[in-house]
Amino acid sequence: MTATNTIRVIVNGNTYELFKGTGAGQISPSDCLAYTLRETLGLTGTKLSCGQGACGACTIIMDRKAVLSCNILTVECNGKEITTIEGLRNPRTGKLDPLQQAFIDHNAFQCGYCTPGMIMTSKALLEENPHPSEEEIKQALSGNFCRCVSHYHVLRAVKSVAEERG
Ligand code: FES
Ligand code: FES
Repeated sequence: MTATNTIRVIVNGNTYELFKGTGAGQISPSDCLAYTLRETLGLTGTKLSCGQGACGACTIIMDRKAVLSCNILTVECNGKEITTIEGLRNPRTGKLDPLQQAFIDHNAFQCGYCTPGMIMTSKALLEENPHPSEEEIKQALSGNFCRCVSHYHVLRAVKSVAEERG
């Protein structure tokens, strides 16, 4: 197998070497990253809903930006650094990320299907802008849709983390 037949990605700090092809466990040219994360790597925290870039459920962080993983082909991800919802928990202490805890504390989800995407979008926002205004939070989350809870619960959760940072 030559190097051009492989895709190397770092996901949640772990390096994976994926092989292009159509066999079991291989990456076909049409596989989107959300599919690969879920079905090849077993990271089912990332949700796949519309599959068309319209709902935000599949949001992950790639090279420090929130991106829609259903809109990205895995074969284009060689060398990328990716964080999924599974990567937010502190690996040493097992403690949830403050955003994960805030979503629990503020009842910011019901079925939870949209929640990983909401949290990853919020995480990328706070990394880039630790003290966003309410408008900036709403703007950042405008592509993340939820059928269950009021977005005000989500807003309160994200704001609480920004405020805790002082
Ligand atoms: S599943 Fe990717 S935006 Fe809806
Ligand atoms: S909590 Fe159910 S879709 Fe958002």
